[in-house]
Amino acid sequence: EAAQKNGFPHFMLKEIHEQPDALHNTVAPRIKDGLPDFSSDGVPDDIFRGCNKIYIIACGTAMHAGMVCKTMIEPLMRIPVTVSIASEFRYEDPLVDENTLVIAISQSGETIDTLEALRLSRRCHARTLAVVNVKGSTIARECDNVIYTHAGPEIAVASTKAYTVQLAALYLIGCKLGLVNAKYTLKQARAFIVSLQKAIPAIGRILEQENTIKKVVEPLSSAQDTFFIGRGLDYTLSLEGALKLKEISYIHAEAYAAGELKHGTIALITDGVPVIAIATQKRVMAKTLSNIREVKARGAYVILLTKENNVTDQDVYDVQLPLPELDDMFMVFPAAVALQLIAYYTSVNKGVDVDKPRNLAKSVTVE
Ligand code: G6P
Repeated sequence: EAAQKNGFPHFMLKEIHEQPDALHNTVAPRIKDGLPDFSSDGVPDDIFRGCNKIYIIACGTAMHAGMVCKTMIEPLMRIPVTVSIASEFRYEDPLVDENTLVIAISQSGETIDTLEALRLSRRCHARTLAVVNVKGSTIARECDNVIYTHAGPEIAVASTKAYTVQLAALYLIGCKLGLVNAKYTLKQARAFIVSLQKAIPAIGRILEQENTIKKVVEPLSSAQDTFFIGRGLDYTLSLEGALKLKEISYIHAEAYAAGELKHGTIALITDGVPVIAIATQKRVMAKTLSNIREVKARGAYVILLTKENNVTDQDVYDVQLPLPELDDMFMVFPAAVALQLIAYYTSVNKGVDVDKPRNLAKSVTVE
């Protein structure tokens, strides 16, 4: 096992570090002439043409990847994108027909709820596309079309590299949807791909900050409750940041849309309660900062994740984790890795078994 860990103390840390390669392996083979190309996957452009709604079905971390993707695809396509927890989708009589594109996301390709949701979609004659990591898995075999992520085996229960490669595959799909349906010009699509490729070295820059992150999370390991806040894309990221922390540190972590805090949750903010605030989106920056001020004023210990060149008043945060500058839509990549490291080091500081947290399984085949 030590050999498999390749010098890292845990699989999770090894897998966090594998992300630049995993992303490169997932993205590079699907770019031709600067544009997204799924011909080597055998996925025809036709499945993207003229669909009038999209359902994303998945569980856990994969579902959170779907939520990020919705914030990118819906405004571009101007069609409804619904992210459905697979175990709910099956019982909500979803509005699926032959003009619906259903995207099933799964690392293992074996999650029973996602598989059954896919089967239901096929019975409703939807166009189906799976984003799966494990080759030849059941979801990959049963889906009409598959785009494999190339993360390699993920051993740690807490998903890290599988999440970021899912995001990359979904961004490629989003770009393809835009192109095929004339929402993007060739020039816009090429610019999108360039931005996506820039996200890969940006992840490397977060990995260089590992020691700083290890230090700033020290107050977290003794906390009872923590909150992750953000708006829009940053909110969808908060959900994954909170999940990561709770599953491997057993600390209660809740993600909240920053603007919604004032409707109840802010009552829980008292002296020293850690709040991880994510503010990478220009469109909602002023509003998010004002929400962060509200928690700071009530004594929260604020760790702020924002672009390195974003000038923020020092009274808004206790610690700032600067993220490399990318176009807003692509900030999810470095921010996700920072959140993974926050969870990892909190768990290590607490002395929890990072790779095998209690009660959890890597692949869930019970309903
Ligand atoms: C389990 C794992 C999670 C994962 C979820 C969905 O709960 O612990 O990390 O996100 O299943 O798994 P899948 O293989 O379908 O992505």
